[in-house]
Amino acid sequence: MTLQEMKNKFEKIFGEHDQAGEIRAFFAPGRINLIGEHTDYNGGHALPCALSLGTYGIARLTNDKKVSVVSLNIDETDVRSFDPDQIVMYDPAGDGWTGYVKGVFWAYRQHGNEFPTGCQILFWGNLPVGSSLASSATLGVLTAEIIRELYQVSNVDNIELAVLAQRAESKFVGTNCGIMDQFASAMGKKDNAIFLDAEHIKYEYVPLKLGTARIVITNSQVKHELSVEEYNKRRKECEKALKKLKTVVNINNLCDLGWDQFESCKDVIMDDTLIRRARHAVYENARTIRAVNALRVNNIRRFGALMNESHASLRDDYEVSCPEIDFLVETAQSLPGTIGSRMTGGGFGGCTVSLVEEASIPEFKEKLYSGYKEKYGLEAAFYVVDAGDGVRELPLE
Ligand code: GLA
Repeated sequence: MTLQEMKNKFEKIFGEHDQAGEIRAFFAPGRINLIGEHTDYNGGHALPCALSLGTYGIARLTNDKKVSVVSLNIDETDVRSFDPDQIVMYDPAGDGWTGYVKGVFWAYRQHGNEFPTGCQILFWGNLPVGSSLASSATLGVLTAEIIRELYQVSNVDNIELAVLAQRAESKFVGTNCGIMDQFASAMGKKDNAIFLDAEHIKYEYVPLKLGTARIVITNSQVKHELSVEEYNKRRKECEKALKKLKTVVNINNLCDLGWDQFESCKDVIMDDTLIRRARHAVYENARTIRAVNALRVNNIRRFGALMNESHASLRDDYEVSCPEIDFLVETAQSLPGTIGSRMTGGGFGGCTVSLVEEASIPEFKEKLYSGYKEKYGLEAAFYVVDAGDGVRELPLE
């Protein structure tokens, strides 16, 4: 769908001229995480990049106090409205997807911002939903950007934008997520990955010089429906392990430990599952730092090997993969043109990320597609992607 088509829909749904503001267009990208999974909320590092796929919004201010939203991906006849000053708590049954939008208005209010008038927003996105490419984060970051621009909020930079959107998702909707997805969507930079230090919310851009390789996303078509519960459970397990470790070492987060320190004090945790959860966090953080160093010296093979190790750790220690994803990753890793492959995002389905020699991509797609279809009866979808820029306003005629 083009922006013009979205604008036409917007005018059809909300009317052409009877409102205060001009009609404007915005975009928030999804993300792919190259390495550093389930480290962000453990005070560690991640290496995501923004995509060119994402969520678009057409928006304008109104004369009344009502916020009205509609999604072309859900149902264009179902316009939902709310008063931005009266948002109390998330109602999963009633709010559904609009919770991610309401939550951002709520977070801005907590931040001290006011909404003297309402607005109308129409959403449409080309990211597969529930596929671990951060579609929910794009909704939050996009809403945060729209609010900042329409209401001329001056005290919010792009990092704060990510923080507000993350607060909406974790404190309002209740997925106790880290900052990575929102950060990547807000701060993405073309042809660069973001080396994110989630504890200090510090970052560096790392040029994605992949030589003759490309990033290939494979969508397993398995939606991660159970993941909120499991995700929150993993966080709790990490907190428990941390509590035990704190009795013998002076740390704030699991990822404050080097792997050698971890090995020397892990027995204090006294629970095999919790030891494995903590081990994943500690080693994955170390792997991410090593992967960035490898990327900086153009050692793509090393980078790929670390991606493979990351997958094994997520599968065996953190237990957030699933058979379909393992099959896609293991098949990919067995192909000669693959440099590295792993699950990406929260887990329990969604997508894998692979580094593949460009010349081998047709064979990669064909082998994965047919093997996967034969084994699981599902049709894998592929996206060959580049790193893109973060959230922004787009010109509209
Ligand atoms: C989800 C969360 C992120 C991060 C990943 C796992 O995408 O939103 O904050 O924790 O899972 O790395």
